[in-house]
Amino acid sequence: MFTASTAVVLSSDHSHAVQIEGANFLNLLIVDDDRNIREACREVAQSLGFNTQVAESAEQAYRLLDGSSIDAVLLDLRMPGTGGLEALHAIKKHRADALVIVVTGYGTVKSAVEAMKDGAYDYVTKPFSMEELRLLLERVAGHLRLKTENRVLRETIKSRQGFGNIVGRAPEMEKLYRMIAKAGQSVHPVLIFGESGTGKELVAKSIHFSGMFRNKPFIPVDCGSLVPTLIESELFGHVRGAFTGATNPKDGLLAIAEGGTVFLDEIGELPVDLQAKLLRAIQEKEIRPVGSVKRIPIDVRILAATNRDLERAVAEGTFRRDLFFRLNVLTLRIVPLRDRRQDIPLLAAHFLERIGRDAGAEKSISDEALKALLNYDWPGNVRELENALERACALNSADEIQVRDLPTQLYSAPMGLITMSSPSNGIMPMSELEKQTILNALTQVNGDKMLAARLLGIGKTTLYRKLKEYRSQN
Ligand SMILES: Nc1ncnc2c1ncn2[C@@H]1O[C@H](COP(=O)(O)OP(=O)(O)OP(=O)(O)O)[C@@H](O)[C@H]1O
Ligand SMILES: [Mg+2]
Repeated sequence: MFTASTAVVLSSDHSHAVQIEGANFLNLLIVDDDRNIREACREVAQSLGFNTQVAESAEQAYRLLDGSSIDAVLLDLRMPGTGGLEALHAIKKHRADALVIVVTGYGTVKSAVEAMKDGAYDYVTKPFSMEELRLLLERVAGHLRLKTENRVLRETIKSRQGFGNIVGRAPEMEKLYRMIAKAGQSVHPVLIFGESGTGKELVAKSIHFSGMFRNKPFIPVDCGSLVPTLIESELFGHVRGAFTGATNPKDGLLAIAEGGTVFLDEIGELPVDLQAKLLRAIQEKEIRPVGSVKRIPIDVRILAATNRDLERAVAEGTFRRDLFFRLNVLTLRIVPLRDRRQDIPLLAAHFLERIGRDAGAEKSISDEALKALLNYDWPGNVRELENALERACALNSADEIQVRDLPTQLYSAPMGLITMSSPSNGIMPMSELEKQTILNALTQVNGDKMLAARLLGIGKTTLYRKLKEYRSQN
């Protein structure tokens, strides 16, 4: 039998014990009526890194199980009072997920087997050596670690689905998910960088809807598509008669968001004088509607996005440094699709699934067409991919998309270069020529719409209008 003297042997040796990695998060409850055994086991377990508690009876064990978190129980099956399998059952009832290792006397393997059948994790017979106990506890720690890892994984997957359908498994995307989770729990401004169509708005929504303000409004403001006076009145509101046409007073979006999120899209396009006003609003947490002298307090979380190199804009003096720093508390960078091509098949499957669901028919893609998707450079990123697939499904009434259903630049052009695809009669409509010129310009300037408009010699608003047209055409 396991005696006091063997207990001394156990404890005298523990200085050689190597701690089990991760064991210090594990709580072991030792239940034995023999004090010497309790203490000996405790010493071994502690030397391995476990947090330990002891109980001298089953009843005391139940109280501990109810009151603290216990991952594993070392239970002597032979105790006065409640003992044996009855104690095992009761422990399982109190804490179903705890691992129970039963300790049985020599020659009572039968009860050990029964205990295993009844849900014990393992057993050990007395007398046991420190080495035996150590090996056993190592197994327990390994098992518990795996259980925890699985739980963490499950939670991550759960939260991933909560991230508003963001698809992608590239390492950069995994990093992005972690950042989104972090941003969701913060009140600080977030600046989201990414080329056109990389999913900036999707990410902003995910931050809001997975975060702590999800029950409050999410209000997007496109700073690029409005004329400056309109942006100002959109953001800050105006009083009646503030300017021609202001026949009714209007609340600013920064005030309407009330405890929620304002998403300032294309922040890089915000005119410099409005940048100053926005900075003041964020710093002082109040706004002044256009034409008013009164200030209104605001309580809003700011997310901003841009496809421009704002650092360069700061260096060039077109974007205020102080506003840049104010907005750039947390930075999220979304990698262009061409730099995470492994996500293309996933995204394609995701969009086809959605399109198919809407159309009530299963949609798939031929190997060759998928290859074309993988080889293309996607200057318009995920949005372009989504549009290409929608267009292909519209063109092809069959269920499998073929290469010929894809936009011509995907198979007639070397990586990313949009060539003039001429129809068989050699004549191309002016509108098509214009479209290709605009898209080509955008590709060459990496999606910088301001720069593209300048190079093309057209206004920014015209460019936005054209792009919108193309999107609806696709
Ligand atoms: N990782 C992704 N998973 C699933 N869908 C995505 C992903 N990224 C983008 N999308 C989809 O692509 C389209 C474009 O995304 P979004 O509007 O968020 O991009 P953006 O960066 O704001 O583009 P822009 O610069 O043109 O405003 C949307 O329909 C969006 O749902
Ligand atoms: Mg956007």
